[in-house]
Amino acid sequence: MKNLTLEIIRLSLTFEGLMETNQVLHEISLNIAPKEKVALVGESGSGKSVTARLILGLLQSRAKTKIQGAIRFEGQEFGWITEKERDQLRGTRMSMIFQDPVSALNPVYNIETQFHEVLRRKYPLITRRQVRKEAIKILEDVHIVHPERVLKSFPFQLSGGMNQRVMIAMGLINKPTLLIADEPGTALDVTVQDQTLHLMQEMVAKRETSVFLISHNLGVVREFSDRLYVIYQGRIVEEGKTEDVFADPRHPYTKALLAAVPGITSGNTIADVINDTSAFRAPKEVH
Ligand SMILES: Nc1ncnc2c1ncn2[C@@H]1O[C@H](COP(=O)(O)OP(=O)(O)O)[C@@H](O)[C@H]1O
Ligand SMILES: [Mg+2]
Repeated sequence: MKNLTLEIIRLSLTFEGLMETNQVLHEISLNIAPKEKVALVGESGSGKSVTARLILGLLQSRAKTKIQGAIRFEGQEFGWITEKERDQLRGTRMSMIFQDPVSALNPVYNIETQFHEVLRRKYPLITRRQVRKEAIKILEDVHIVHPERVLKSFPFQLSGGMNQRVMIAMGLINKPTLLIADEPGTALDVTVQDQTLHLMQEMVAKRETSVFLISHNLGVVREFSDRLYVIYQGRIVEEGKTEDVFADPRHPYTKALLAAVPGITSGNTIADVINDTSAFRAPKEVH
């Protein structure tokens, strides 16, 4: 049997501060098969981003952290590989696209240099010329009309939408088997966010990449995932094929989430529901 792309097994996470401890994940288990698009949906503060960061090995915290459970990537358990090997996986076999492309890109290097950095992780000896060739090819795939010009630009010289395309291109250039997208584009306006998601969908369809889509927005999840997990206060409370969960939500929290989106069950378009995210936002966004 082919390995699952990702397996999270009873993963718990606790932040141990000086004054208090805060358990933010409670034995969550989930898996993603090759080529599958799986969503993790829940309101702000429910533990979505910490899950993504644990998978990528990017969790940073001033507080001490206690982690239990296991993460397996393509059959390999993270507990058994070295930091260096783990580091090597990032940007090569798994990559991430973020909410805000501008802060994820490096402001002091032009786009070409940043493509070079990314490609060098997989091909340490790659030449400048090969970088340019590969980068232009993938920038064309994300429908950028003047790729040479974009390569010479710095992130601040490009629009939010352009940066987002660049980000998707960089995330996929090394042909990762898993793409993690944490609220992609939500820092940008709704139209750009929608374009971002469609572009991501188009790109992964060509490449047969698995996607782990993290979102507080049920409209987005319905359109862009095959299967979903609902997370509530650090616990997975429901899982299933996306269409089944929408047709027949089981957990009261999922029902409440669905009920909170006006018209979500009556066939509204994504553009209608995407505008109403107020129901899922706690007063303060935590990322
Ligand atoms: N580095 C950190 N140190 C301490 N607590 C954190 C840290 N990162 C996240 N948290 C806490 O973990 C919980 C989940 O956060 P997060 O995963 O960012 O939620 P979201 O579902 O909105 O992405 C929140 O209560 C948050 O305050
Ligand atoms: Mg988050």
